[in-house]
Amino acid sequence: MTQTTPQEQQSFVSFLREASPYLRAHRGQTFVVYLGGDLIDAPGFPLVVQDLALLCGIGVKLVLVHGARPQIEARLAQADVLTTLVGDLRVTDSATLHEVRPAIALVRYTVEAQFAQVAGPCQIGAPGLRVTGGNFVVARPVGVIAGTDLQFTGEVRKVDTMGLRAQLELSDVVLISPLAHSPTGELFSLNALTLASALAIELSASKLVLYTPEAAITDQQGVLWRQLTVPELRAAPAFNGPPAAILDNALRACRGGVERVHLVSSVQDGALLLELFTRDGVGTLISNVPFDQLRTATIDDVGGILALIEPLEAAGVLVKRSREKLEREIGCFEIMVRDGMTVACGAVYPYDSERMAELACIAVHPDYRRGGFGAALLVALERQALAAGVSCVFVLTTQTTHWFQEQGYVRSTLEELPIARQALYNAQRNSVVLVKKLSAR
Ligand SMILES: CC(C)(COP(=O)(O)OP(=O)(O)OC[C@H]1O[C@@H](n2cnc3c(N)ncnc32)[C@H](O)[C@@H]1OP(=O)(O)O)[C@@H](O)C(=O)NCCC(=O)NCCS
Repeated sequence: MTQTTPQEQQSFVSFLREASPYLRAHRGQTFVVYLGGDLIDAPGFPLVVQDLALLCGIGVKLVLVHGARPQIEARLAQADVLTTLVGDLRVTDSATLHEVRPAIALVRYTVEAQFAQVAGPCQIGAPGLRVTGGNFVVARPVGVIAGTDLQFTGEVRKVDTMGLRAQLELSDVVLISPLAHSPTGELFSLNALTLASALAIELSASKLVLYTPEAAITDQQGVLWRQLTVPELRAAPAFNGPPAAILDNALRACRGGVERVHLVSSVQDGALLLELFTRDGVGTLISNVPFDQLRTATIDDVGGILALIEPLEAAGVLVKRSREKLEREIGCFEIMVRDGMTVACGAVYPYDSERMAELACIAVHPDYRRGGFGAALLVALERQALAAGVSCVFVLTTQTTHWFQEQGYVRSTLEELPIARQALYNAQRNSVVLVKKLSAR
């Protein structure tokens, strides 16, 4: 047996410490997870099931929605059944449905069999996790699209949320297949992704997790975005990354009130755990941050920023800035605007020669604090810094050290700062220096 090295022990301890707030935060929350058919046939699927079982073990309520597209396609090809697609939807005639049913059933058994092999939440060595299914979803036909009748292709009409919640209370994993009946008893084939987002909305899930081979979003400049908000996703002209259907359903879920949608790699081992239990994650987080606009400030925003920061300057929390200085530096500021009012601001000052940038003048209006605005703003500022070619950001603070530490900043020393900034350090203020190395975000 190999002994763990002191470094391995230390990294284990550090990881558990970093994960502990998330363990607490996720307990009792409902997550809806989409598992594509390709993932279920992949060699790494048993490990994905182990990760999902771990979530159950810490008290997450799990609803899984599985797809079966490659399995259905293989079966249709074997049976020589030709089908047509209208957009992303297959026309399901009787012959197609005949093949779809067993293909989906087989995928379902595969998932159930995997869960049978992992320990249940309460008992080590006891029979595997219980997976429940049932007629929780009522379907209706999609109908005629662009002149084509999609026949037995359906969509969600109603979800029995009470029934689903009752199963989740029993610590069962609920597994939903993309087949559902209409009230008249006809069977319909559903799109699994759309089904997952609909369930997340109906259950008011705190997270929708979408496994996808390509979980990273890069913009046109090649900058990797690990977190983005619905307005940012909508406003961006183009992205490289996950298929449009994934992004469409992520947006749909956010619009429907799901707080967070995580795009998680279906090829990276442990991607779900890294995404949920580490500060920076490894996938892409799309969140419905409840502010109307996050954008770079313009000269017209000077008044709004001053109204926000002047009380904090008077209290000595922020360094005083004159209107003239603010006007000169306005392009460095990012602001959040709600109902026309500037509710948060912050600035990025790059020091090009050292590939560092100072984040400064970070403030959230008192009425909007503790709503995640500060954290979201910081992410936006870090992203601006990254786009400017910066690899390390720093802050100087007198009263907010712990908050920055919670956002991944570590204490540093004056000597670590750019020389030009060291010269400007105000010894009387005696600010604490904190730094953060930026990974692609
Ligand atoms: C610091 C600040 C930007 C945080 O904004 P926010 O939108 O409230 O932040 P979030 O919602 O992301 O985080 C809130 C959490 O941070 C904590 N927090 C806020 N200020 C803190 C501080 N000074 N020290 C430690 N924790 C702090 C809150 O208690 C809350 O945690 P809790 O809900 O567990 O109690 C905001 O409080 C602010 O504007 N403060 C005054 C200006 C300031 O200090 N700016 C930094 C200058 S360098």
